[in-house]
This record gives sequence, structure tokens and C-alpha cells, in this order.
Amino acid sequence: MVSIKELLGSKEIFKGLRSPTRAIIYLLAPLFPKMLRFDLDLYDYPWYAYCLLESAKLARRLNIFRTSAIEFGVAGGRGLIQLEKISHIVTDITKVKIDIYGFDLKTGLPRPKDYKDMPYNWKKGFFRMNVENLKRKIKNAKLILGDVKKTVPEFFKKFNPAPIGFVSFDLDLYSSTANKKICLINGLGHRRIIDAAWCYQAYMLHIFNHPLYNAYVYAQDDIQMPI
Ligand SMILES: C[S@@+](CC[C@H](N)C(=O)[O-])C[C@H]1O[C@@H](n2cnc3c(N)ncnc32)[C@H](O)[C@@H]1O
Repeated sequence: MVSIKELLGSKEIFKGLRSPTRAIIYLLAPLFPKMLRFDLDLYDYPWYAYCLLESAKLARRLNIFRTSAIEFGVAGGRGLIQLEKISHIVTDITKVKIDIYGFDLKTGLPRPKDYKDMPYNWKKGFFRMNVENLKRKIKNAKLILGDVKKTVPEFFKKFNPAPIGFVSFDLDLYSSTANKKICLINGLGHRRIIDAAWCYQAYMLHIFNHPLYNAYVYAQDDIQMPI
């Protein structure tokens, strides 16, 4: 049975208010069968929901009953919390258990290294974490704190993770994402004969005619991005 709190607490309701039909669908969503909610993208973070469900379905076909899901870049934990919630639903449906790992520096974004990091957009310290607060909200997910350059190579030895079925890259900076250490994470970088393209490519919006291309620009200097 769905509680009133869950019904009213869904942020999707407010997004749905843009059209009356969608508003009604979102309002009633918690009452729908779980699979229908996947099909209609009614979970928060539907991109996580889709990928996690597909990874578990694939795992089952391969006779794997425990997998790992990784989020690179946790910040306030909105994504990690959703990942954890969705993982329980996916496990109910597929019987595949999912271990969740969230990687973050804790102190927010590192300093952008060069133009590829879009320094006019990102500033050192954005998205600082409140770790204790987040720990109270998650149940089983493990937080792995520190620079991914260091924590990723240690990860396999320390956690001996189940096969990785899901990875989200949300580190914002090219220099954080496209480094060879992070490519180790799902084995693509070191197990494939030909390296996967995503090890070396990141796509982002560049405004080449920006007058201050290499400088952070915002009205206030001490702003903290909402997390
Ligand atoms: C946009 S936030 C993540 C938001 C989160 N995925 C969500 O859905 O709410 C980006 C995060 O990446 C982290 N990050 C960036 N570079 C990193 C690095 N080299 N090592 C670890 N964490 C890093 C920052 O600390 C920041 O918290």
C-alpha cells in the first residue's frame, strides 16, 4: 500500500503539473505495477531506472545473481538515493541483488585543469558533500571517498565487487572522467583488445566565443551549487 507521504513526496508530481494528463499519471504512479512505472519512466532518475533494470535482466540471462552499480560523482546524494531505491525494486523483479557504490571527492569539484574542464562553468569546491547527512539517508550503498584517481585502482582489491552492470559518470570535469585509472572500473580499458572509445572521449558544451573562456564567471564568487 502506498502512503500519502510517498504519494505527495514524489517530485515527479510537480514536474507532471505541466500537463493535466501527466499530472494525473504522476499522481497515481505509486499505485501502478512496478514494471509499468519503468515503462513509463515514472521513477525519479528514469535514466538510472532503465539502465539498472536492463543490467539486471542481462545478468539473469548470464546466470549472474549479484551485480554492482557505481555512481561516479555523488554530491548531495540525490542520484545515489534513487539508485538505492530503484535497486530494491529491480531486485524484486529480477531476483538479482545489486551492490551500490558511490565515488566522490567529498570536498566538491577539484580545480578545473584546462579548457577541456570548462573553467567558465565549473569552480573548485562546487557540490561539497555533507557525508554524515547522506549516510543517514542511505541504507546499503557504500561511499568511497577520495580522488577517483586513487580510489578506483584500490577498489577491486578492497571490495572484490560483483560483476559491474551499471556505471554513471557524473564527475562534471573532463580531467576527472577521462583518466586511465577510471577506465579500469568496468574492465573495458584493460580487458579489451581495442580500448573502448569512452575511455578517451567526453562530450560537453563549449562556447568557443566566450570572452572569458578560461575563467569562472558568475555574479557571486562564493556561490555553492545546489545539491
Ligand atoms: C554533479 S556532482 C554529482 C551529482 C550526483 N550524481 C547527483 O545525481 O546528484 C559531481 C561530483 O563529482 C565529484 N568529483 C569530481 N571530480 C572528482 C574526482 N576526481 N574524484 C572524485 N570525485 C570527483 C565532485 O566532488 C561532485 O560532488
